[in-house]
Amino acid sequence: MPRTWPRCVNGLVVAPSLLAADFGRLAEAVHGLEGGGADRLHIDVMDGDFVPNFTFGTDTLRALRGETDLPFEVHLMIREPERHLGTFAEAGADAMTVHWEACPHLHRTLTTIRGLGCRAGGALNVSTPAECLYDVLDVMDLALVMTVDPGFGGQSLIPRALAKVAALRREIDAQGVEVELEVDGGVEAHNAALCAQAGATVLVAGTAVFGDPAGPAHGVQRLLEVAAPLR
Ligand code: DX5
Ligand code: ZN
Repeated sequence: MPRTWPRCVNGLVVAPSLLAADFGRLAEAVHGLEGGGADRLHIDVMDGDFVPNFTFGTDTLRALRGETDLPFEVHLMIREPERHLGTFAEAGADAMTVHWEACPHLHRTLTTIRGLGCRAGGALNVSTPAECLYDVLDVMDLALVMTVDPGFGGQSLIPRALAKVAALRREIDAQGVEVELEVDGGVEAHNAALCAQAGATVLVAGTAVFGDPAGPAHGVQRLLEVAAPLR
């Protein structure tokens, strides 16, 4: 069954990050999200070069693809992502987000992702200004603002990054483009409202979801409770 992309340009959704799940029981972790309000699955791909860590590859993506109908948004924290877009699309990605810092030809990379039938996302590291995405918002479906230094889960959200979220919110609205605005890193119940107030429509959460003692579905609901009313 073709998966539809549940674009969220208003309102607010939660994208659980698999990085915080038990790597020995990923299918079980994904099943635990079904019916719990998760809108999509955030899958962090790391190459040990663009970021100092390794995680999932296309084989894991392909294996998980058969376990759930949740859309996969693949966060490519890798160098030269343009070399691997077709492989990730074939493995089951519904959206692919690449980093401005890793793409000298970001406009072309985003249009290539769309050409593969996937939603295209552009991500900014903490020190990269919002303006770096302004000229490609019209060829993307998702703008991702890193609220931690990429590479690891369980870090604390960097509050200053929310000013960048607000700047992108203004620019997206000024351009009148249908681009989701995502925050990624350190999102917890105590700061989710701030993320929503800054203008985010997608909250990526790993620790807050898979670290919730009452289970991942509860973690998702907790974030939606505190943040959704503010969007
Ligand atoms: C970090 C990843 C994030 C991270 C989020 O490089 O891009 O998606 O897994 O995890 P938490 O919510 O635990 O910060
Ligand atoms: Zn991520």
